[in-house]
Amino acid sequence: MIERLGALMKQGLAQLSQVADDVTLQDWRVKVLGRSAPLGKILEELRDLPKDQRPAAGRRANEVKTTLEAAYEAKAESLKAAALAQSLEQEQLDVTLPGRPMPRGRVHPAHQTLRRILRIWAEMGFQVYRSRDVETDEYNFEFMNMPPHHPARDMWDTFYTTTPGVLLRTHTSPGQIHVMRERASEPIRVVLPGMCYRYEQITARSEIQFHQVEGLAVGRHITFADLKGTLTAFTRRMFGSAVQTRFRASYFPFTEPSAEMDVECFVCGGEGCAVCKRTGWLEILGAGMVHPVVLSYGGYDPEVFSGFAFGMGSERIAMLRHRIEDIRYFWANDLRFLEQF
Ligand code: DAH
Repeated sequence: MIERLGALMKQGLAQLSQVADDVTLQDWRVKVLGRSAPLGKILEELRDLPKDQRPAAGRRANEVKTTLEAAYEAKAESLKAAALAQSLEQEQLDVTLPGRPMPRGRVHPAHQTLRRILRIWAEMGFQVYRSRDVETDEYNFEFMNMPPHHPARDMWDTFYTTTPGVLLRTHTSPGQIHVMRERASEPIRVVLPGMCYRYEQITARSEIQFHQVEGLAVGRHITFADLKGTLTAFTRRMFGSAVQTRFRASYFPFTEPSAEMDVECFVCGGEGCAVCKRTGWLEILGAGMVHPVVLSYGGYDPEVFSGFAFGMGSERIAMLRHRIEDIRYFWANDLRFLEQF
């Protein structure tokens, strides 16, 4: 038996020396050290040996087993080391190569300006209020003092839905009524940002969708002087304290009196150029004292309350700030444009 053990060990070690990969190594282990391997059988035979031969044979069997096990561990170690050495050799990492830049997202230029406008109004004590994009004819026109067939409706080309009387708002002004009805005779100082929609020819100066920021202040003693002072303070914060502004008389059905506000042309500084159409001024908003009819629709008694309102186009203002000459860039999704901001 002792010779057979010696032979098994020799054979096992010889086979192991041929092993060059993990799969063969596992095969070897099953064949040489496994339960049904010859070595296992010999260990079982120990019981049947005459008593005097048993200790020597047992010792030898143990020696063989531990030797083979140790050889297995050593082989597994060396295979692992070889695999690591090979992968280090083959998969070289050149840390001097330039990195791949991670593109970073950013806020859309239209929204950058919108946020700035809202921040300024918030600083001036105006609460930001949201109202819906889909409106009824009543809110968009009637409550804004334009009954059906009123000629002023022509100022707003409108997208109608298939449901009669439901449309996409053409301006943020209907939000005034929503706020007034909610506040029910409390004083109001809010701005209402939002997307507006117009069924218009798309040109360099007009889009079918754009953002407006509506403003509304209602109280017991609000005057046109408050309107002028507040809007002048806004433009100074928005465009710098040196900027020149002017008010021009205008017409809106929902305000009386109505005005438009211009700022001095940024391009020519008031000299007159192509951008300002030689006037030296750029229009930035419409405004006025809230019409008594509109106050009544909002549930405010026009004998007691007065208020001012305004509406500004935020892409318009973004165009002025950044000298963007075509409004179509805003929704064209051209990265060459967007990445400049
Ligand atoms: N809603 C007007 C428009 O879309 C802008 C406007 C003008 C809003 C005067 C107002 C206002 O609140 O008082 O052109």
